[in-house]
Amino acid sequence: MAGIDYDQKIPNNVDLKSDKRLQRALEKWLPKYLDWWRDMGPTDFNEKDIYLRTAVSVDRDGWAHFDHVQMPDYRWGIFLAEPEPDRKIHFGDHLGQDAWQQVPGEYRNTLRRIIVTQGDTEPASVEQQRLLGHTAPSLYDLRNLFQVNVEEGRHLWAMVYLLQAYFGRDGREEAEELLERRSGNPDHPRILGTFNEPCEDWLSFFCFTTYTDRDGKFQLLSLAESGFDPLARTCRFMLTEEAHHMFVGQTGLGRVIERTCQLMRDNPDADVTKFGAIPLEMVQRYINFWNSSSNDLFGGEISSNASNFFAAGIKGRAHEAKLGKDPKALEEIYNMEVWENGRLSSQEVPLRNAMNEVLRDDYVADNEKGIVYFNKICQKFDNDFRFQLPHRRFNRKIGIYADGHFSLTGEAMTPEAWKAKESEWLPSPEDKAYVKSLMVPCYERGKTASWIAPPAKGINGQPFDYDYVKL
Ligand SMILES: [Fe+2]
Ligand SMILES: [Fe+2]
Repeated sequence: MAGIDYDQKIPNNVDLKSDKRLQRALEKWLPKYLDWWRDMGPTDFNEKDIYLRTAVSVDRDGWAHFDHVQMPDYRWGIFLAEPEPDRKIHFGDHLGQDAWQQVPGEYRNTLRRIIVTQGDTEPASVEQQRLLGHTAPSLYDLRNLFQVNVEEGRHLWAMVYLLQAYFGRDGREEAEELLERRSGNPDHPRILGTFNEPCEDWLSFFCFTTYTDRDGKFQLLSLAESGFDPLARTCRFMLTEEAHHMFVGQTGLGRVIERTCQLMRDNPDADVTKFGAIPLEMVQRYINFWNSSSNDLFGGEISSNASNFFAAGIKGRAHEAKLGKDPKALEEIYNMEVWENGRLSSQEVPLRNAMNEVLRDDYVADNEKGIVYFNKICQKFDNDFRFQLPHRRFNRKIGIYADGHFSLTGEAMTPEAWKAKESEWLPSPEDKAYVKSLMVPCYERGKTASWIAPPAKGINGQPFDYDYVKL
């Protein structure tokens, strides 16, 4: 079962060939997907051989195979984690009942909406990143970009499989729609805000893969607990792939910081922009933007939807099964700072209504670890600069803090005071112009652009100067 059938047009471990109807539906969707990939995927690199990993099994060890392939030939497929025999729903109102192998009628619309919303983010990010190949700071980075892209494409397949297999005609229509919305298109945008933001430079890409992909991780963690078993199994395998995306972001930002720190140490009186590096304050502003935007993806702090999803057994807390907490979450309350009538005050919220915030707590804690990692790099170079994670109230567009103005450390401010600080806290037009001016490709093996240090090691045991992309 763990093995993946690669003899099929669509590689899978769900025995697709025994369900002819579904197989036909997916095979009909495949050329439309490839058209979308050619129109909206990475531009101009489809004929190049790229050192990519492909899933060959869903086992924890040895699941990936590395080889040079051209992206349109990548074997996008349907891979679900192994089923747990006799799995039960382990939280919410259906606690203890058998996990669903089919969609329960009462939750059909809710589940479809959740799967479509998750599915929509996957092609959106590919669209956002489609031009970045032209300005990659090294062949290693170029390869990582494409690895992320093909796997986001596979995540779309993962969601489209669920839609087509379990939601009949509606599901097929949703699968078409997923190829029709476009990131940033005012008439037909992607569903969630962050996925319509332009991501046109590599500093943004590294912030995106650090913060936006990490939102993805936590959404997947909560869906991996789902009582709808095919969704849970799908998400469990997606998490394995997702880890690499965050690695790309985290180490990418780390290398930008390392390069700047190195130049600052060696040239204590010089402005690092003279060397084509990115000032640390500027990196911090990009972090502030992408982190605050990604905080919005968790939704409102107090949410009846979140409560309903939990009650229904559809979306659990991250690692719900291992938490050892009341699996019904009925008694506990969550103490929350709310923004009301122009001031912050403490409010007791029934835990189920605070489930978005519970998930955001885990996200913030994970992000804090990333900041520690950045600051260790500063310390290593005796640099006094310290990165900080913006407070979750900072620069929010969704939720209870969206009406207020909050500093990086979460204090309420007047709109005027905030405005005066904005260019210190968020990327200014000058920052963006400067970062953009650095975006010239470096395609020479073993070399990197001026603004980034080489990675500590290569991919899959290969050296940094390996020909990750054959140009
Ligand atoms: Fe993804
Ligand atoms: Fe991702």
